Amino acid sequence: MRAAIEIAHLSKTFRTGKRALENISLTIQPGEMVALIGASGSGKSTLLRHIAGLMPGDRGAHAQVIVNGRMVQQDGRIARGIRRTRAGIGFVFQQFNLVGRMPVITNVLAGNLGCMPLWRTLLRWFTDEQRRIAIHALDRVGIAPCAFQRASTLSGGQQQRAAIARALVQKAGVILADEPIASLDPEASRKVMESLADINRNDGVTVVVSLHQVDFALKYCRRVIALRDGRVVFDGAASGVTAALLRGIYGNDTGLEFGDLDGGWSSSAAGMPPVPVAAQRLLLQPEAMPA
Ligand SMILES: Nc1ncnc2c1ncn2[C@@H]1O[C@H](COP(=O)(O)OP(=O)(O)OP(=O)(O)O)[C@@H](O)[C@H]1O
Ligand SMILES: [Mg+2]
Repeated sequence: MRAAIEIAHLSKTFRTGKRALENISLTIQPGEMVALIGASGSGKSTLLRHIAGLMPGDRGAHAQVIVNGRMVQQDGRIARGIRRTRAGIGFVFQQFNLVGRMPVITNVLAGNLGCMPLWRTLLRWFTDEQRRIAIHALDRVGIAPCAFQRASTLSGGQQQRAAIARALVQKAGVILADEPIASLDPEASRKVMESLADINRNDGVTVVVSLHQVDFALKYCRRVIALRDGRVVFDGAASGVTAALLRGIYGNDTGLEFGDLDGGWSSSAAGMPPVPVAAQRLLLQPEAMPA
């Protein structure tokens, strides 16, 4: 089977001279749920933007990004037909999620814009069947009662879940989520992560989610990719993430949220390898980390 995401020799140097990505090559298989972790400025958002084709990387004969078997960019150029490619990618980005003045259901149906004739889009005209599908998607993420509210009246967590519902309606094979729980309380964070995990498990959607909260990354994602200064410094099973690795990634970054790893570790992360008890203890007591 073709990989969901294939990245080869991707580098990015901004005009400022900042090298944000350094020769990244990695492959993500369909149905994986991958956490992207790394300190602030390590390149997580930049990498996700490149995967989405929102930004071209540096030129390079072998540099390319392929999503769902379709070329997103190559040799520093965004591929033709990127709109169609993007229709297969769901975005749950903090910055540009929903159109606030439109009802939630319209926002969710906008996930279909890529495959609707323009006049329908402009008239915001949707069939009963489309509406039914949208309500079902909102129900999946637990916010069906909010369907006819203006999107701007939703809480942060509800907005993120609406964006996930939109990806469902869009039948996106890949969801890219950039810090979807950054500004949420633990309960709202849990609901957003459960929604992503549910869609990953039951619909086989490939999920790549950048997270600052390491405990959420380890709890919900089998695979962790860690960036440091634009380089991949770890790519492997969540169970292989050690306190020493985290220290290497974050240094003394005080913004690190270790959270509470107690309770429901293996039940909500069904089938996932448990994090070794010693590592959990270290995670809970960052001061106990080895130097
Ligand atoms: N448009 C830009 N122009 C110049 N430099 C940029 C631009 N966008 C990002 N950078 C730089 O690239 C590096 C990576 O930024 P990026 O936003 O990808 O980090 P991040 O890992 O997402 O950080 P955070 O956890 O704070 O969101 C940073 O040094 C940032 O300042
Ligand atoms: Mg970021």
